[in-house]
Formats: sequence, C-alpha cells, structure tokens
Amino acid sequence: MPRERLSVVVTRRLPDEVETRLSELFDVKLRDSDTPMTRSELAAAMRDADILVPTLTDEIDARLLGQAGERLKLIANYGAGVDHIDVATARQRGILVSNTPGVLTDDTADMTMALLLAVTRRIPEGLSVMQKGDWEGWAPTALLGGRVGGRRLGILGMGRIGQAVALRARAFGMQVHYHNRKRLRPEIEERFEATYWDSLDQMVARMDVLSVNCPSTPSTFHLMNARRLKLMKPSAVIVNTSRGEVIDENALTRMLRANELAGAGLDVYEHGVNVNPRLRELPNVVLLPHMGSATLEGRIEMGEKVIINIKTFEDGHRPPDQVVP
Ligand code: DGY
Repeated sequence: MPRERLSVVVTRRLPDEVETRLSELFDVKLRDSDTPMTRSELAAAMRDADILVPTLTDEIDARLLGQAGERLKLIANYGAGVDHIDVATARQRGILVSNTPGVLTDDTADMTMALLLAVTRRIPEGLSVMQKGDWEGWAPTALLGGRVGGRRLGILGMGRIGQAVALRARAFGMQVHYHNRKRLRPEIEERFEATYWDSLDQMVARMDVLSVNCPSTPSTFHLMNARRLKLMKPSAVIVNTSRGEVIDENALTRMLRANELAGAGLDVYEHGVNVNPRLRELPNVVLLPHMGSATLEGRIEMGEKVIINIKTFEDGHRPPDQVVP
C-alpha cells in the first residue's frame, strides 16, 4: 500500500523552484501571500500539520509549541539561525527541529565583505553624489576612505561564516584575529594566519574592524554592550551580518552619533524591522534589509536542505541537520 504523504505547511512564500519540488514530494500547503503568518495562523498550522517549514520571521515560542497538535513531529526551519524557535521546549514535546547550515555561508561572508568595503570606502556616499548629479569631477581630497589592506579584522564567532569571512579578508590583505567559545585547531588558524584572543575585551580594543558572526543565543545577547563598544578604537568600524541582538543597538547608535566609532555596516537589527531611526540619519552607517543570504542559488539550496531533512525524517531517520538544544 502506498505510504500516506506527510502534510507539510510552509509559512512564507519560497522561490518557485523550491515550492514546486515540495509540492511534488509532499502534501504541502503553501503560503500565497508574502507576509508572515499571524500567531493564530501559525497556531492553526502547528495544530494540523505533520511538519512545519517556518522561517526566521516566525516566533515559535513555548506558548505556540504548547498548542501544537499531536501529529506535529518536525519543524524543518528554512534558514540556519534558529533563535526564533524554542528548541528545548520542542524537544520536550517530542518535536524535532532542523535547519539549513552551510549553504548560506559564502553568500553571507560575501555580504560581510561588501558592508566592510561599503563603510570603509564610503561607497553609499559616492553613489549618492552620482545619483544626485552632484559630481564635479575627480578631486584629490574627495570622499577619502580608509585602506582595507593591512587592517586588523576581529571576527567574533569563528564558525562556518566567520571562517569564510577570514578567507576573504586574507585575500584583501587584512590581518585576521578572532574570538570564539572554542579555540580552533592549529591547522585552521594557520590557514587564515589567524590570531586567537581568549579575552573579547582585549580583542575589540585593538581591532580596526569588528565583524559579528556568532549566532544569537542567551549567552551572546548584547555581547557587544555599551561597555564593550566603548573599548573599541574611535577609528574602528563594526559590521554585523549575524543577528541584531548581539549588539546593543541603542548604545551603538549613541556612539556613532558621537563619533566615538567611525562607522557601521549592518544587515540585521536588534528589534527586527523596527530599526533605530537615528541610525538611518548617519552618513557613516550602511544599512541593509537582512539580505546576507539573499541569492537565488542560496535560497534554492536552503530549500533542498529542507527537503532532505523532511525526507530523511519520513524514512524514519534523524534529519541530517537536526538542531540539538
Ligand atoms: C538564516 O538563515 O538564519 C539567515 O539569517 C537568513 O538570511
């Protein structure tokens, strides 16, 4: 007898290629509008589905998990970060959680470098001059930025993405430093000629650029708080393509306004779309709308990972990208 197909609910519009493949394989309910589900829509989905495919815009907390139906057995997140899911509560309720690591590493690292260059080389200011038709020709002193080569880059969080940033930074001639929960193996440090700092305070005080690449967890919340931001050199730049919660956004804004920091390149924000409006007014800040992993290739590969996780689960095994709390 053919096996009954698993019912899968997807909470956001996904690229056509991914939706088509999901529909071929599963009894899937796709989202027809490109807005996040409301809490009650999410609760209904979690009541009725075997498998939920959420994204980072769905806050799946203990309360929602408490309303999940008996049949919900897997939350196959479309994305790498799972800080929006209460993984520990899901586990207590016998619901597995999986994610899509690896496939967005290079895209996110590329965007980190793009932000780093945009801030240090003042690219948005140059663009604005051109767009306004204000360019009066080359001038020896116009829009002088800082040279990237030779600068000290401190990477906060040397996982996959941190290491991909290190690789790129080396190609730009930067000196790589890092702080991580665990020191990397010597051969990896050698590959990037990277210097390990056990003390984050000491590292941030000496860097020209700080790149935030650690996940958002209770222990990384406001790791870059007001006190630590103040340790940075006034000439330093901070870049964040990870999660906004790692930096105290208000403290950062105050420092940028007071020229106590030279600039920031941000792709993520502490309060999601409610970006501190003062940040938007600053010329030394480049803001992007969380597009670090936004390539078509990456988004299709994220879908492929979701499918592998679901299919493996369907076959009675643990999903390869299961997240353990
Ligand atoms: C993720 O997958 O967590 C990324 O932040 C999405 O861009």
